[in-house]
Amino acid sequence: MAASSVFRQGLFNHKVAIVTGGGTGIGKAISAELLELGCSVVISSRKAERLEAAAQEMRQKIPPSSPASVTTVPCNIRSEDEAREHVKDLVSSVLKRYGRIDYLVNNGGGQFSSPVEKIASKGWKAVIDTNLTGTFYCCKEVYTAWMKQHGGVIVNIIADMWKGFPGMAHTGAARSAVDNLTKTMAVEWAPSGVRVNAVAPGTIFSKTAMENYKEFGPQLFKMSIPLIPAKRLGVPEEISSAVCFLLSPGASYISGATLRVDAGQSLYHALWEIPADCRSLLFSSRGHNKPFSMGGDHGHGKMSMPDWRQWKVEGTPLEFTQQRLTKRGLKDPWARNEAWRYSGGFSRAVTLSDVLFRGFKWGFAAFTVALAIEYTMFPPKKGGH
Ligand SMILES: NC(=O)c1ccc[n+]([C@@H]2O[C@H](COP(=O)([O-])OP(=O)(O)OC[C@H]3O[C@@H](n4cnc5c(N)ncnc54)[C@H](OP(=O)(O)O)[C@@H]3O)[C@@H](O)[C@H]2O)c1
Repeated sequence: MAASSVFRQGLFNHKVAIVTGGGTGIGKAISAELLELGCSVVISSRKAERLEAAAQEMRQKIPPSSPASVTTVPCNIRSEDEAREHVKDLVSSVLKRYGRIDYLVNNGGGQFSSPVEKIASKGWKAVIDTNLTGTFYCCKEVYTAWMKQHGGVIVNIIADMWKGFPGMAHTGAARSAVDNLTKTMAVEWAPSGVRVNAVAPGTIFSKTAMENYKEFGPQLFKMSIPLIPAKRLGVPEEISSAVCFLLSPGASYISGATLRVDAGQSLYHALWEIPADCRSLLFSSRGHNKPFSMGGDHGHGKMSMPDWRQWKVEGTPLEFTQQRLTKRGLKDPWARNEAWRYSGGFSRAVTLSDVLFRGFKWGFAAFTVALAIEYTMFPPKKGGH
């Protein structure tokens, strides 16, 4: 942990930040960098002991000359009955201790992997409540209790959900909603001098992040590497520097934005593999199958990611339709049309209806041209009655 910050020392002197989930992974890196830059940080999450251990570790690294301090406030942001009270207590205790809240980083969150059909409503609710409603509670409470009158900056940590989030639909839906919430708050709270932005991390490795997915964790992170253009996982400090930038005056004209910190991962391949027999879904209504194929060991209903280098395309649409043409003796109209389209229109048999249609078309065109020539060369006489 704690690569040295690229920002100038003292940048956040005498400022105060709340970082939810600030005792582990990304949140811990954000807290550590803020502390390094002179900001006092309140780290908050459910597990009090783990929070305190993290705070102890970070405290030792604060130079004696720094105005920064780190404190812990246990809080569950998930909207079970008492969550709103938890968040209220968090905000009021920070104001009591420090008398201000300049920054809020909504980083606390989590999810589990499951295909949509297997997500029970309890699990769905837990993820939405933590990642969406918890973020909403924190933003609203910090705004009404402090930022509305004094301004401030909020950064929401979301996720790479730009292509949907197969395997974790609940968190995809929640993070997408937070992306939208970020934009709304940026506009509604602009008159109070509040900037609201989001950071969408790619796959960021930390021990705790990996442990969240239990025995599937190591595989999940390993499987992601080939899908990242940088061919490596991100580290929490790479998210932290983006957050510090958005909190800093360097981003004073940035609000309502979501910064993707993913080395281009969201533009590249997705982790979820489509099983090879999906082709039957796409083509079955027309009685076709096997136009394309990707090799590998395909899982059904669970994340499955064979070595991507094994992927191979067995046939192009043209090859496929040509094979079909031969096999079916040109009897299948769909196959004929496909072949016609993909081959530029010359592998199709000419039928009687084509001849009649074309004859009519060209005949009509010739008649029109002849009429135009006649009218040009022998115009009707004017006033000749
Ligand atoms: N690592 C990645 O690849 C990645 C990618 C995209 C987005 N993210 C998101 O980034 C954030 C940080 O993740 P991370 O990778 O650093 O994993 P992490 O170490 O597991 O961090 C999650 C933090 O959220 C806290 N938390 C969870 N539920 C909470 C609740 N109900 N109330 C308050 N705090 C809660 C946890 O602390 P307690 O258990 O003590 O409550 C923990 O400190 C998460 O929102 C995560 O979903 C991570």
